[in-house]
Amino acid sequence: MNIYELRTPALLVHSAALEHNLAIMHNARPRTTLRPHVKAHKCTALARRQVAHGHTAFTCATPREVIGMATAGLGRDLLLANEVLDRTLLGDMAAVQHLATVHIAVDSVDTIDAAADAGLRYVLIDVNIGLPRCGCAPADAGVLADHARSRGLFVSGVMGYEGHLMMVSDRDEQKVRVDRAVDKLLAAHLLVGGEVISGGGTGTYDLHDQLTEVQAGSYALMDTHYAQLGLPFQQACTVLGTVISTCAGHSVVDVGLKALGMDHGNPQVRSVDGESGDVWFVSDEHTTFSNLAVRTNHRVHVLPAHIDPTMALHDVAWVVDGDEVVDQWRIDLRGW
Ligand SMILES: Cc1ncc(COP(=O)(O)O)c(C=O)c1O
Repeated sequence: MNIYELRTPALLVHSAALEHNLAIMHNARPRTTLRPHVKAHKCTALARRQVAHGHTAFTCATPREVIGMATAGLGRDLLLANEVLDRTLLGDMAAVQHLATVHIAVDSVDTIDAAADAGLRYVLIDVNIGLPRCGCAPADAGVLADHARSRGLFVSGVMGYEGHLMMVSDRDEQKVRVDRAVDKLLAAHLLVGGEVISGGGTGTYDLHDQLTEVQAGSYALMDTHYAQLGLPFQQACTVLGTVISTCAGHSVVDVGLKALGMDHGNPQVRSVDGESGDVWFVSDEHTTFSNLAVRTNHRVHVLPAHIDPTMALHDVAWVVDGDEVVDQWRIDLRGW
């Protein structure tokens, strides 16, 4: 099959760019020094490519991702880097522990008690290192670790996510601020103990010499938001669309916000020859653009600004080598 035979919108994974990205990252953070975040692709077939590049431990954001990875045989070492209080979901994750080593992030007595009651075994103390989201105060990490141990849980170490620093464009400034954030994690680690010091993401993957592992996920497929940083990763995901209408001055492709994660802004549009157009706006089922020589029925690539929510909107990724479709991957880790 080739891309002109696909129904649009169609999510494409460009295999050469994906393999390039996986190789660059593995070179920088080999084996378990990277714990790839599967929330960025939600696809066990893609996770298998990461295993092929040597990474055997994974980060997840939802119980569905943990359970899906475990049942797919990819559960050697899974970390749910997120807090869960729902006893049913915690029980469902405990039920796959014969297939997987499951670590859960905890940041309170309540999350620890819920994990222990559900029969989970391993936790990381999640520490707030500057992003106002989950995570305990660094000074509280030791007391929480003691409580977890008193509940029979094995505390493997700490995690903290400096998401607020991913897009700092001045690399020197970014390094200084990341080091300050990591200092908070290291202080918490002194109180907690354990082998694991986990954090980081695509925007900071090469700035960490104190973490035992980095949780980057977007690097595999990339998006136009991260592309602004000039990282050595290529855009490996596009949403293929069909030009359905043209007018003097603008054209319309059948890829809209129901096929794209939009929270990082508008996508980019490129012709199949790699020429860039100017995006005017995106609506439910359409993107309107100009300055590309296209006619109705032409195919164009729409480059998402945010990869994670884009993947979560599609059932299938078509793996392509140039114009040829070489495989079909299910986005099988969607949902919660
Ligand atoms: C807990 C956690 N770790 C790591 C990441 C890194 O992801 P990315 O590769 O997109 O920077 C994220 C992204 O939101 C996250 O929430």
